[in-house]
Amino acid sequence: MTNADQKKQAVARAAIEYVEYDDIVGVGTGSTVDFFIEYLKPIKNKISGAIASSISTKEKLEAIGVRVLDLNDVSDIPIYIDGADEVNPNFQLIKGGGGALTREKIIAGASKKFLCIVDNSKLVDVLGKFPLPLEVVPMARSFVSREIIKIQGMPAWRENFVTDNGNIILDVNHMEIMEPIKLEKDLNQISGVLTVGLFAARPADKVLVSNEKDVIELKKK
Ligand code: A5P
Repeated sequence: MTNADQKKQAVARAAIEYVEYDDIVGVGTGSTVDFFIEYLKPIKNKISGAIASSISTKEKLEAIGVRVLDLNDVSDIPIYIDGADEVNPNFQLIKGGGGALTREKIIAGASKKFLCIVDNSKLVDVLGKFPLPLEVVPMARSFVSREIIKIQGMPAWRENFVTDNGNIILDVNHMEIMEPIKLEKDLNQISGVLTVGLFAARPADKVLVSNEKDVIELKKK
């Protein structure tokens, strides 16, 4: 296992401590969450069920015997656990490297607490080095790209990729995101953009970070 995988595994293991008896757990998507799902296996009877943020996560949860619920049938999700591509000191995030940003954002919004689990390579002062993913309705691809160029972004079409919702992803490069909430709001206004991979208006509530030695809960600056 690589050093990066060891850090992902360590933070995923630590996240299990935050899951309480009878909880319905929102489960994100990605390689860090894949480790979390492995650790969920031995305690699967302790929780009431899970809400999955992607088809891939749903399949992995079902494979270990966790009951996956429909979000429409659930009104109370005590905790959502997910990784991120970048985390700033205000716990605002870039997400969507795996393309599951829309369902992730819906579940994050519907959950009481959002616990973000990352290794220290994801911590940044200013968001935007990681290309910002936008989920876009396919017919709007060129229009949205032109609008992004107007605000100095460099959109790249993630080719041969279709989201779980049947849409495409534009990854926006060259963004130095000084005002994450404003940018999230502005991008949300472009017709054809379904979801912006900036989790700024609803940031994480807690961030667990692993480094080479241990796992710590990040303090907000
Ligand atoms: C999935 O769409 C993403 O939002 C992931 O949460 C993010 O890309 C982190 O993934 P890794 O845990 O694989 O780095």
